[in-house]
Amino acid sequence: MTSKNEYQGKVALVTGATSGIGRKVAQSILTLGAKVAVNYHSEDEKKEETERDLQTILTVAGRPRSDLMMVKANIAEAPEVEDMFTAVEKQLGSLDILVNNAGVQSDCPSHELENDRIQLEISVNLIGPILCCREALKAFLAKPKSKGCIVNISSVHEKIPKPGFLPYSVSKGGLRNLTRTLALEYADRNIRVNSVGPGAVDTKMNSKLSDDAVRKETLENIPVRKIIDPAEIARCVAYLVSDESKNLTGQSIIIDGGLSLYPSFQENWSSK
Ligand SMILES: NC(=O)c1ccc[n+]([C@@H]2O[C@H](COP(=O)([O-])OP(=O)(O)OC[C@H]3O[C@@H](n4cnc5c(N)ncnc54)[C@H](OP(=O)(O)O)[C@@H]3O)[C@@H](O)[C@H]2O)c1
Repeated sequence: MTSKNEYQGKVALVTGATSGIGRKVAQSILTLGAKVAVNYHSEDEKKEETERDLQTILTVAGRPRSDLMMVKANIAEAPEVEDMFTAVEKQLGSLDILVNNAGVQSDCPSHELENDRIQLEISVNLIGPILCCREALKAFLAKPKSKGCIVNISSVHEKIPKPGFLPYSVSKGGLRNLTRTLALEYADRNIRVNSVGPGAVDTKMNSKLSDDAVRKETLENIPVRKIIDPAEIARCVAYLVSDESKNLTGQSIIIDGGLSLYPSFQENWSSK
């Protein structure tokens, strides 16, 4: 298992971290001992609630409130991303870990997609992570001995096509190549880049899972018949940013209960 100490003194930035997977990732890394910058997009109750919960973790552990920073930015906008990284380094002292988590998706036949929708999803899901990686890499390389870790939260749809979700599917496929390209480019400078590709996780993005019929149909398509808890993704991220995975770079860890294993082959229909 990862030792708590190795996270202490590290600074992590998690994007889109006031809900779902991002929030669990921020909570997990903070609990393990790192200082965490929580990027948020909407000024709403999610932000207040996340800040309160994470401050409670610090209080219980007897740690300073300043180990947590809430930082507002639309990651699709380059100037906002640049300001966010400047603010994090100024307030928390450095940057060691970036988790590109923020994402959006919507359902629309590809021939009916509106320009704004294409633009929005590609900007948030792919351009945003590229901008954040660029700023993180500058911070990692500026250290006397360069070092850093990036984890991109992609999706099982970085490999499985998702008809009706073209910009989402394309952006997650792009994240796979972002991960591999940066991993190779910076491997000799102590910088590792990996992805976690979840299958069906219980979050706001998957709110239709609260409908019994949808949940049942989803489970029938997942070989292990389980919906993923965001905490499972967070544990994988904690491993990927630790020195225990020091030889792991350029990889996508797919956590999908077997969804990408061609589930229809569970029954023999092909060689009867
Ligand atoms: N849930 C799943 O089954 C699943 C499966 C595979 C991959 N994923 C990936 O996991 C990641 C997290 O998703 P989730 O399931 O946890 O859904 P979620 O709860 O909807 O989280 C998405 C987060 O992204 C933020 N965000 C959206 N646009 C943003 C922007 N322009 N700038 C900054 N933040 C922005 C949202 O903030 P606001 O609400 O304030 O806009 C929200 O906090 C996404 O990349 C998603 O594609 C999820």
